Amino acid sequence: MIRLQDLKLTNFRCYKKDQFVFSPTLNILVGANASGKTTIAEAIHCLSFLKSHKASSDGEMIKRGEDFAVVMANVLKAGKKSEVVLSFTSQGKRIQVNHKAYHKLSEYLGYLHVVFFCPEDLEIIKGSPSIRRKFLDSNLCLVSEVYMKSLILYRKLLKQRNEVLKNLAENQKYNRDLLEILTKSMMPEANAIIKEREKFIEDLNPLIQEKSLHISGGKEKASLVYQPSFKAESKELLSNIKTDLFSKTTTSGPHRDDFLFEINGYRASAFASQGQQRTAALSLKLAFADFLKKKTENIIIILDDVFSELDSERQNEILKLLNSEYQIFITTTSVNNLSSEILKESKIITISRKEREYD
Ligand SMILES: Nc1ncnc2c1ncn2[C@@H]1O[C@H](COP(=O)(O)OP(=O)(O)OP(=O)(O)O)[C@@H](O)[C@H]1O
Ligand SMILES: [Mg+2]
Repeated sequence: MIRLQDLKLTNFRCYKKDQFVFSPTLNILVGANASGKTTIAEAIHCLSFLKSHKASSDGEMIKRGEDFAVVMANVLKAGKKSEVVLSFTSQGKRIQVNHKAYHKLSEYLGYLHVVFFCPEDLEIIKGSPSIRRKFLDSNLCLVSEVYMKSLILYRKLLKQRNEVLKNLAENQKYNRDLLEILTKSMMPEANAIIKEREKFIEDLNPLIQEKSLHISGGKEKASLVYQPSFKAESKELLSNIKTDLFSKTTTSGPHRDDFLFEINGYRASAFASQGQQRTAALSLKLAFADFLKKKTENIIIILDDVFSELDSERQNEILKLLNSEYQIFITTTSVNNLSSEILKESKIITISRKEREYD
């Protein structure tokens, strides 16, 4: 079990110097637009992934006109208190736990897991297949080392194979032996990736169905349907060499897989309402949080501005689903839709736009 006891921000986006003290259960950050709610969610995201969910470079998070930013938190993990300090400068970032710096940032990853819900999650349903593959890949890598290894190797081989094919396009010649060797080496990795994806989706589906039925008051059953670009063990990558020579790129394989959402058997991207799509996306992530819980207890949940499209019944059902299991952070512009029962159990933190100072 992990809990953030507090958070101190220095020169982090709009915050000059500020401190927030949290409840171990439900924290609701309320404030007007541009008051700094997402910034707090982003800072917590950084404590997990060492990077932002929205900034394209770390420098964006440093308050304009300053040259460093610090995110500091007192963390209670398995009953032990630690101080985590993440700092950003133009030279790079640094993470310290109890004044001890991690020389390799990758060794810190996994210290705390954040499951982050944000408005952009709808893209998992509505957006291009590459967005869904990215979701699948990053989450599967968290829970399966086999997957991560196969994916890294597959991507490396794919890049080399595409270079051979590109060479054909540019110089009208290619190394046939190399193309065959690369294709054969890719097969076991492709098969491993497809099998892991199949299994992951199979494991997630009952959880997604349970969550979506719960949130929608029994009305909607969401599920994922895997659409591999070819079946595992089918050797299609080999038989597709001709097509690939014509297209000058690798036309099939896990890098072209997709999966789609169905709600009560209908394709969500085409038929579902905005609130139904939001419910399905939330159900997927909640299901993933449950899945992750089998691997680690150190999970924090953040819901950044995802309630606006949901009616008050759905909002309250989500909070009931999550309550007491995790420490939760919710950002919203208004608490009017939340039940008095939930408000009673939560800590309301009002965020207002002003220059702030702690100590
Ligand atoms: N590097 C930066 N330096 C200074 N201010 C910044 C920086 N980056 C962002 N801001 C400002 O921080 C403010 C808070 O943004 P934030 O996204 O946290 O607001 P919010 O409360 O989530 O708003 P909304 O309800 O619209 O989502 C904005 O006014 C933004 O312009
Ligand atoms: Mg926001």
